[in-house]
Amino acid sequence: MATQRKIAGVRGMNDLLPADAALVEWFEARVADWVRSYGYRQIRTPIVEYTELFVRGIGEVTDIVEKEMYSFEDRLNGERLTMRPEFTAGTVRAAVEHNLVYDGPKRVWSIGPVFRHERPQRGRYRQFDQVNVEALGFAGPDIDAEHIVMLARLWKTLGIGPVRLEINCLGQAEERARHRVDLIAHFERHADRLDDDARRRLHSNPLRILDTKNPALAEVVAAAPRITDYLGAASLAHFEGLQRLVGAAGIAYSVNPRLVRGLDYYNLTVFEWITDALGAQGTICGGGRYDPLIERVGGKPTPACGYAIGVARVLELLGAAADLEIGSGTDIYVVHQGGATAEPAFLLAESIRDRGLDVVCHAGDASLKSQMKRADASGAEYAVIVGESEVAAGAAAIKALRGSDATAAYAEQRIVPLAQVPDALVDAMTVTESE
Ligand code: HAM
Repeated sequence: MATQRKIAGVRGMNDLLPADAALVEWFEARVADWVRSYGYRQIRTPIVEYTELFVRGIGEVTDIVEKEMYSFEDRLNGERLTMRPEFTAGTVRAAVEHNLVYDGPKRVWSIGPVFRHERPQRGRYRQFDQVNVEALGFAGPDIDAEHIVMLARLWKTLGIGPVRLEINCLGQAEERARHRVDLIAHFERHADRLDDDARRRLHSNPLRILDTKNPALAEVVAAAPRITDYLGAASLAHFEGLQRLVGAAGIAYSVNPRLVRGLDYYNLTVFEWITDALGAQGTICGGGRYDPLIERVGGKPTPACGYAIGVARVLELLGAAADLEIGSGTDIYVVHQGGATAEPAFLLAESIRDRGLDVVCHAGDASLKSQMKRADASGAEYAVIVGESEVAAGAAAIKALRGSDATAAYAEQRIVPLAQVPDALVDAMTVTESE
């Protein structure tokens, strides 16, 4: 048969390979502990939702809805569907559908893939994981501050830094409407200097022009009217309340009046955490308050806020932290000589697992020497050798693979009766761990 052409993965959508899995598992375990410590419970919503949910929720004139969504028509029934480009709209849809906040506010979180058809580059992918946290039914600003302090704690737990925090207040719809009039007038005065994107958005979504990455627009944007100058007493009180709590918790931040975020549902608080260590894609987390959203998707008016962390970006920072100690996940590697030794080795591995240890049992044929190499590469603490001579004597040999005082007893192979091997390993591992 002719050799078949290889099929590659889809551009911008990455595989997680086994060598990198330990770091991801370590990260996910820290995240699960951390959200639990703040009283958040997991919510899992489908990857696919009706397209209309994102159009209404995120907003028609946003990069995500205009050009980044993976949308398709279900050929079987003609429904317009979209692979979620973020978690918030789906979480809110589920909360409304299941009446989640009927008996009081809810703290929920999710982790998983989201999809955006962006131009792939370092830190920017078409499928990427987010850790998403939402607080539904809270008017704040104490909950906005909770989100910021919990993120500061996560960065500390993970040992990543420095990460700087930028915050802004987008006020309420009426305040943004007055700001918008002046903003359009300002940009119209400088229409000759706007790029195509900005010109297109001038009347549909002028706030987003403030978010432009085009350096040619920097001067016009810097001179634009600031939303913070249009805030009324209630919005200012919310913003000040947030800043008071964040300041009291000892968290450094700066107010960036041009921070608007790329999704249309926000009001009042918005924030981003940014690192300089990742080049252009340095925002590792973004979020804010979205009081208008729940009503927009058909629920009763309910205040809410939340944020999402870009997992790949945080993992890249973690990968750069050299002192991270992540175990291999294998305690014991069982080697054997095939033939009559294969079955006792197979059963011995099971009885060691019965005692709670993580065991890899060699499968297939290979010389003892090459098996010992694999045992060493597996990161296991001990090899258990089930050779012909050992089996004939009803025993196995234990050998320490990592050098330390605790494993000195097994630095040379030590013959142990088969029935006593699991106990001997549990004892040895206990000493190794308490070192
Ligand atoms: P977002 O700012 O669009 O917010 O995304 C949150 C984070 O996801 C970003 O800060 C970034 O770390 C990561 N991210 C975004 N796009 C990509 C990409 N193409 N490749 C890799 N990472 C990326 C939201 O999604 C809102 N739903 C956050 C939120 C939750 N607001 C309220 N609740």
